[in-house]
Amino acid sequence: MSIYLDYAASTPLKKEVLDAMLPYLTDYYGNASSTHSFGRRMNQALEKSRRLISKLIGCNKDEFYFVASGTEANNWALKGIAEKYKEKGNHIIVSAFEHPAVLNTAKHLEENGFDVTYLLPDSQGHITVESVNESLTDQTILVSIMYVNNEVGTIQPLKEIAALLREKEIIFHSDGVQALGYLDFDIKDLGVDLMSFSSHKIYGPTGVGGLYIRKGIKIKSLLDGGAQERQRRAGTSHVAGAVGFSEALKLRVENIQDTSKALKNKRDYLLDGLTKLGCHLNGDLNRHPGNMNIRFDDIPGETLLMNLDLEGIA
Ligand SMILES: Cc1ncc(COP(=O)(O)O)c(C=O)c1O
Repeated sequence: MSIYLDYAASTPLKKEVLDAMLPYLTDYYGNASSTHSFGRRMNQALEKSRRLISKLIGCNKDEFYFVASGTEANNWALKGIAEKYKEKGNHIIVSAFEHPAVLNTAKHLEENGFDVTYLLPDSQGHITVESVNESLTDQTILVSIMYVNNEVGTIQPLKEIAALLREKEIIFHSDGVQALGYLDFDIKDLGVDLMSFSSHKIYGPTGVGGLYIRKGIKIKSLLDGGAQERQRRAGTSHVAGAVGFSEALKLRVENIQDTSKALKNKRDYLLDGLTKLGCHLNGDLNRHPGNMNIRFDDIPGETLLMNLDLEGIA
């Protein structure tokens, strides 16, 4: 028997999601930008998916953009904002434990003349609003702090950070990839200006993600090409991907409170058993309901991983 526990890395595609996608991979075809009936049918499915996702995260449909991955969304957010607002200042703040899609993008910007501060989390895995405040300068144009860390699963105080930055007119991006479908949030209530998402973390297909860009925020495009995504993100639309992403999100957020609670209970049960065997939890419990990041004394992580793999446990 094999046991897969690496859901933060990727989730299996849900059968219902595949069923929703299949017609757009087989029976229906055409380019969603074409004005003939084949194209219009594809476009209707694309826009229906956009409306559904926007409604579920709490934004206007014109504020949600389909992209190819969480990685692209993060690259677009950081590079697009840095480029557009560089006349205003050249300082950017990111947390030091962002996903490489943010960290390496920040390094790229550093190599191109931007000044980047990498904020350290506290010992329990949280970025404090005070530390953000202390790092701001009159040159700060952008702050990027993830909602849920992909390794320790800890939840960051986005609402407080957003309130601070809104007051100072500094743009706030958050990588929401690990939070979507697991935390019950409303994007307007959080107050972020941009937020990145990925479909394959919520039982949707790989190769599709999203970026929320609040109305009024200016951003440079990452890709040059056609006029897709309201002229902001070129490339023929991945309609089946968008349909799958929206279906996956719909299924995840239905009864999100109950499913997240059930997930948390299972996690706590496992953690309880492992703690009795002598493991330690990294970070506190203010974290993703399905995340457990643990260590054992004197056992290197790599050795543990290889041995668990031999036992069929991922
Ligand atoms: C927090 C976070 N951001 C971004 C990504 C990248 O998303 P994608 O795999 O869709 O490029 C991941 C996936 O590992 C992630 O966990």
